[in-house]
Amino acid sequence: MTTVRLNSTDNAVSFDTDALVVGVHSSPDGPVPAPGAEGLDDALGGRLAATLDAMGVKGKAGEIAKVPTFGALSAPLLVVVGLGDAPEGDHDPEALRRAAGVATRALAGTARAALALPAADAGRTGAVALGALLGAYSFDRYRTGDAPTAPVGELTVLSRAEGAQAAVDRAVTVAESVSLVRDLVNTPPSDLWPARFAEIAQETGSEAGLSVEVLDEKELKEAGFGGIVAVGQGSANPPRLVRLAYSHPEATKRVAFVGKGITFDSGGLSLKPTSSMDWMKSDMGGAGAVFGALVAIARLGLKVNAVGYLCLAENMPSGTAQRPSDVFTSYAGKTVEVLDTDAEGRLVLIDGIARAAEDEPDLIVDVATLTGAQIVALGWRTAGVMANDDALRETVVEVAGEQGEAAWGMPLPEELRKGLDSPVADIANLHPERFGGMLTAAIFLREFVPAGVSWAHIDMAGPAFNKGEPHGYTPKGGTGAITRTLVGIAERYAG
Ligand code: BES
Ligand code: MN
Ligand code: ZN
Repeated sequence: MTTVRLNSTDNAVSFDTDALVVGVHSSPDGPVPAPGAEGLDDALGGRLAATLDAMGVKGKAGEIAKVPTFGALSAPLLVVVGLGDAPEGDHDPEALRRAAGVATRALAGTARAALALPAADAGRTGAVALGALLGAYSFDRYRTGDAPTAPVGELTVLSRAEGAQAAVDRAVTVAESVSLVRDLVNTPPSDLWPARFAEIAQETGSEAGLSVEVLDEKELKEAGFGGIVAVGQGSANPPRLVRLAYSHPEATKRVAFVGKGITFDSGGLSLKPTSSMDWMKSDMGGAGAVFGALVAIARLGLKVNAVGYLCLAENMPSGTAQRPSDVFTSYAGKTVEVLDTDAEGRLVLIDGIARAAEDEPDLIVDVATLTGAQIVALGWRTAGVMANDDALRETVVEVAGEQGEAAWGMPLPEELRKGLDSPVADIANLHPERFGGMLTAAIFLREFVPAGVSWAHIDMAGPAFNKGEPHGYTPKGGTGAITRTLVGIAERYAG
C-alpha cells in the first residue's frame, strides 16, 4: 500500500528521499523546468534544461525521464515528468493528476518519493496527491511465483499552500475508494458473484458508517423486482439488490445513485461472441462506482444525504434463463418484453431507479457499462451523459470535468422512442435500429423514472475498463471510472 503525506519545506534540494519528482514544460526553445523545480536547477548548476534537451526530453504530457543527481541533491534520482506547454495562469489540475500518476507508475520498486510539482493551491496539491496515489495502484493478488515489483511505498507531496492538508486527506479517501472499485472490477467473476459483492458491500459499507440492506432472490421476487429477477434467473449465482444509505444531520439535500452490477455478462441466451465476452467481468463497474462513492461520502462526512443501489445479477444462459420474447413486470409496474437478453443492464437498472425514486431524492444518477454504442459514439475514454433535465445533465458533465473524468452530454431524441414499442407488452428492451444505441438505451430507462423526478444516466462502457496500455494515472484493467464524479456530485449537493 502506498501512503502519502504532506511536507511544507521550501528546500526540495536537501529533502531526504529516494526519488524527487519535478515537472517540465515544453516550449519552442526546449524544455523548461516547471514551478517547484527552480531551486533544483540551481543546485544542478543551471544545467537541468540543457541536460533534458540533450536527452531528447521535450516536456510533453506523458513524458518521463530519470536523471541521476550525482550528489547535487539529497535525492539520488530526479524524475522529470512532462506537463506540456506552460499554462497562461495556474495549472490544469487534471494535467497535474496525470503527471503525478505517470511518475508514480514509473517509480514501482522505489521505497520513498517526493513530488515537487506546481501545487500552487490546496486544490492542486490534492490533485498531485490523488494522481500519485491512483498511479501507484497495483492488483497482484492472483500472482504466484516471483513477487511482482511493489508499488512506490511512501509518497510526500511538497506544498506550502493553505488548506493543503485537508486536500491531501480528501485525496487519500477518494483514492481508497477508486482503488476499491478497481479491485472489484479486476476480480474474476469466479470470485465476485452477486451475493459475494453484497457481502463486501455489507462489510466495507458498515465499517465506513453506511447502513446496508440486502435483498436476496426470494425477497426480490416477493417485492416485485421483475427486471433483476429476470436477468438473474439463468445463473447458479442468484441476484441481489443492495441499498447503501448515508445521512448527515445537517443535510438539506438527498442524492440517489443507482449502479449496474452485472458481475458477468455472457449475453445470456443472446450469447456474446468470445471476443466481446472476455472483459465482461467489468460489467459491474457502475455498481462499483456507486459503492465506492458511498464509502467515500461517508468517510468524508459530507453534509448531504445519499443512497446508493447496487443492482447485482449474473447474466448467464441456462435452462432457467430468460428467453428472448419473455415478458416480465418491472418494479415500477410496467411490463417489458425481452427481445435480446444481452440488453440486460437496462432491465436491472429500471428496478433500481424505480426503487430509488421511493426515497424521494433531489436527483437520481444511474451509472452503467450499458452499451457498446457508447464506445462507438465517444470512444474508450469519454462517458456519455443523458438526462430528463437539461440543467442536471450540464451539472453532471461539469462536475465530471472538475474531477478530471471525461464526459459529454448527449441528447434523447423523441423520434427514437417509438422503436421501443412492443407488440405484446408496455415496452420492448431492444430498438430495431442499431444506430444511436446509447440514446435508445437511455430513452428506455427514462420511461421508468416517475414524473417530477430529476434523473441523469452515465454510460461508461468504454471508460470503466482499460483494455490498452496504462496512461496518466490509469492502469490497465479496471479504472474506477465515475466514482470521483459521483463524489463530486455529492459534494455539490452538500453545498
Ligand atoms: N455490457 C454490455 C455493454 C458493453 C459493451 C459494456 C462493451 C462494455 C463494453 C451490455 O449489456 C450489452 O450487451 N449491450 C448491448 C445492447 C444491445 C443488445 C442493444 C450492446 O451494446 O451491444
Ligand atoms: Mn449485455
Ligand atoms: Zn451488460
